[in-house]
Amino acid sequence: MDIRFESAGASFGARVAVEPLTLSLTEHRLGIIGLNGSGKTTFARMINGLMKPTTGKVLVNGKDTREAKAALADVGFIFQSPQNQIILPIVRDDIAFGLKGRGLSKAEIERQVERVLSRFNAEALADRRAHELSGGELQIAALCSVLATGPDILILDEPTNQLDLRNRVLVQKTIEGLEENVVVITHDLELISGFERVLLFHDGKLAADAPAAEAIARYRELAA
Ligand SMILES: Nc1ncnc2c1ncn2[C@@H]1O[C@H](COP(=O)(O)OP(=O)(O)OP(=O)(O)O)[C@@H](O)[C@H]1O
Ligand SMILES: [Mg+2]
Repeated sequence: MDIRFESAGASFGARVAVEPLTLSLTEHRLGIIGLNGSGKTTFARMINGLMKPTTGKVLVNGKDTREAKAALADVGFIFQSPQNQIILPIVRDDIAFGLKGRGLSKAEIERQVERVLSRFNAEALADRRAHELSGGELQIAALCSVLATGPDILILDEPTNQLDLRNRVLVQKTIEGLEENVVVITHDLELISGFERVLLFHDGKLAADAPAAEAIARYRELAA
C-alpha cells in the first residue's frame, strides 16, 4: 500500500472537512479515529477517489485520484451502512456482479464467488437475500463482494457499528486475518488497539499520527 497525500485537503463549499495534509501511508494496518464530524469518512473517500481533493493531490499506488473517473479499482470500500452497497438481492449474485465486465467466463466468475465465500466460511450466505441478513452477516457479505474484485487496499468505515459481541469478534478476526492492506475507521477503539499507526482527526486536522496507545490517549484527552 502506498498512499500519499500532498497538501491534499477537502472542502464542501466554505466548510473545510479535511485541512490540507502531507502524509505517506505504507503500513499494512492503519486506524482512523476521532469525534463525529471530524473528517474521517471524507479522508477515507479521498483515498479511493470518491472525494477528489479540493486542494493538493492524493496518489494511491502511484495513481493520481484526480485523474480517475470513478473510484479506484485498487481500493475496496465498505461503507458506514453496507446495506447501501449491496446491489443485487441475492448474495451470490451481488458478489458476481462486481466481477462482470472483466472478460471472465461464467465458470470463472462462479469459481471466484465460491472462493471468496469459502475464505470467510460464508457459503451458507450465498443463496440468502441480502436484505434479510443480520448486521454481521451483511458485513461479511459486503466484505466478500468487495474482496472478490481483488483490491490492494480495503477501507472499512465503522465495520463493527451495530454488531453484537459475536459478530464484532468475527469482524475483528476477519480484519486480523486479511492479507490485503486495511484502513479501519472506527469508534470501537479496541478494534484498532494493536495497530502500529493510528491517525486521530479533530476538526478536520490531524491531532495525532502515532501508535494506537498514544493516539487513543490523545483522543481521550480531546474528547473529555
Ligand atoms: N456531502 C457533504 N456535504 C457537505 N458537508 C459534508 C458532506 N460530507 C461531510 N460533510 C461535512 O464534513 C465534515 C466531516 O464529515 P465526515 O463525514 O468526514 O466526518 P466523520 O469523522 O466521518 O464523522 P462520523 O464519525 O460521524 O462518521 C462534517 O462537518 C460534515 O458535516
Ligand atoms: Mg464517518
